[in-house]
Amino acid sequence: MCGIVGYTGQEQAAPILLEGLSKLEYRGYDSAGIAVRNAGELPQLAKTAGKLHFLVEKTDGGKLLPGTCGIGHTRWATHGNPTVDNAHPHTSDNVIGVHNGIIENYAELREKLTDKGYRFYSQTDTEVIVKLVDYYYKKYGIGPIDAINRTMVRARGSYALALMFVDYPGEIYAARKESPLVLGTTRDASFLASDVPAILKYTRKVYYIENLQAARITPGRIQFFNLNGDEITLPAREIDWDASAAEKGGYEHFMLKEIHEQPRAVRDTVSSLADFSSTGLDNAFLRSVERIYMVACGSALHAGIAGQYVVERLCGIPVRVEFASEFRYRHLPMEKGTLVVVVSQSGETADSLAALRKAKEAGLPVLGIVNVMGSSIAREADYLIHTMAGPEISVATTKAYSAQLAALYILAVRTAMAKGTVSEEEGKYCLDEIAALPDKIGAVLENKKQLQWFATKIASDTDIFYIGRGLDYAVCLEGSLKMKEISYIHSEAYAAGELKHGTISLIEDNTVVIGVLTQEEVAEKTVSNMIECRSRGARLMVLAKEGIRVPDGLSDFVVRIPSVPDLFSASLAVVPLQLLGYYTSVNRGLDVDKPRNLAKSVTVE
Ligand code: G6P
Repeated sequence: MCGIVGYTGQEQAAPILLEGLSKLEYRGYDSAGIAVRNAGELPQLAKTAGKLHFLVEKTDGGKLLPGTCGIGHTRWATHGNPTVDNAHPHTSDNVIGVHNGIIENYAELREKLTDKGYRFYSQTDTEVIVKLVDYYYKKYGIGPIDAINRTMVRARGSYALALMFVDYPGEIYAARKESPLVLGTTRDASFLASDVPAILKYTRKVYYIENLQAARITPGRIQFFNLNGDEITLPAREIDWDASAAEKGGYEHFMLKEIHEQPRAVRDTVSSLADFSSTGLDNAFLRSVERIYMVACGSALHAGIAGQYVVERLCGIPVRVEFASEFRYRHLPMEKGTLVVVVSQSGETADSLAALRKAKEAGLPVLGIVNVMGSSIAREADYLIHTMAGPEISVATTKAYSAQLAALYILAVRTAMAKGTVSEEEGKYCLDEIAALPDKIGAVLENKKQLQWFATKIASDTDIFYIGRGLDYAVCLEGSLKMKEISYIHSEAYAAGELKHGTISLIEDNTVVIGVLTQEEVAEKTVSNMIECRSRGARLMVLAKEGIRVPDGLSDFVVRIPSVPDLFSASLAVVPLQLLGYYTSVNRGLDVDKPRNLAKSVTVE
């Protein structure tokens, strides 16, 4: 989703803004722009459609745009095509601004402003909000903060805004509702951005502006204001990871680096939960949980589906997994005794956040399993498990998913121990097996040449099916998503037993079918389903756990993962599927880390 940066200080702003935008590229975007100014001069703008390097070229790395104060933006198109006209910043007589989010009542506001004589040059909701600020500023002769506050009262939807006012050189104004925004200062400069990596080079001390708050940013100083215009104090937070964590570190792509970071991500997550009381979840509370709603989007939802199997097996309570986008609008029973678990890497996914709020409004306790500390979901959840994946840059998640799995296993084991559905000894055995996962993931990673080779065999295929049962089905969902999101090959995951009810009609000569076999109880049944596919011409790949029998001749391509208890096998089985997606994308010459149309953090509905 859109990325925002801002800088005011003593240096030339444009190169700093462009560098900051490059750190936000992972969020997904399709056009970019910056506006910079010096005192006494009007802001100068540069905008381009397409990737950021066009803007870098157009401005000679920013050198062509003088000025020590500026704002920049990468736009992920919502209202209007990804054209130069629609790219931000947008301007009005007195105000120039960038925006991330969606203004839901923009059509009505645009009409009103048109009646007042405003002309619009883009199709965006952003231009509407910039002109609305301008309208209040002029009409009431008020200062920037008051004009922004009036706008916040009038605008519906979500936004992070960075604005410059022609009459206030050297200053940037910011405001936020729902969409993320982080601010930071040094002795003589100040920064703002949609995410920490854009400003980490300059400062580790950051402020997270809250909903319906505004900020005035001057070199070396940031002031915060509430909706009444009163100045307020926000706590500074220290970022505990450094800029190198968000660099490629010698790997060709962030995704490959992050795949290799999984042993560390899982190990850190597991050790941080050794003292489980830090989550706020005590035994008395866990005993009172009678059912769970697991709510998330994308890969986090797939982690939730794996968690569902594990919790149901260990704790004997029903778990319902819901797309956050559905949960927020459906009318599920919200009974006492229900724990709502919201799983999210970014902690900012609009639907997941809305689901959290809906659950809280209904009086249900919410546990957030979140990777980004300080994010909205991390702040608003009643209980928090912080996954320790560290910053994840590749749009296609890998290490955060693995850390979510580990967190969910531990939640399941701790709940089961509290409820007495497993003995202390069984619980301890499970925790030891979870602690052993990082080394086993490391062993799976050693096998990557095999996947690299297989990827060359499927790179020009058009359809790939993933089949499995139980937890293997959960892994198939994630493997299939990895494949389609970065290789653009059509891919589907099926519970193997469902194939016969329709999908098998799609299997023809040479269709690729990947069967996952890690669950001892059901592996033979999946093998039968694979044979049925082969009989209809499919090319099979088998992903099987050590010890599970794969009939001779079933497939020329068998990938093995180390022995692991069935309950936790997803952590190992997903790794070859991530690598397969990765190498297939590389083979097809695609932009692995920034796949088309996708965003890392989906902050609009
Ligand atoms: C986007 C990302 C996915 C992610 C999903 C949920 O679609 O591309 O990788 O799984 O959002 O994001 P969250 O931050 O809530 O985990």
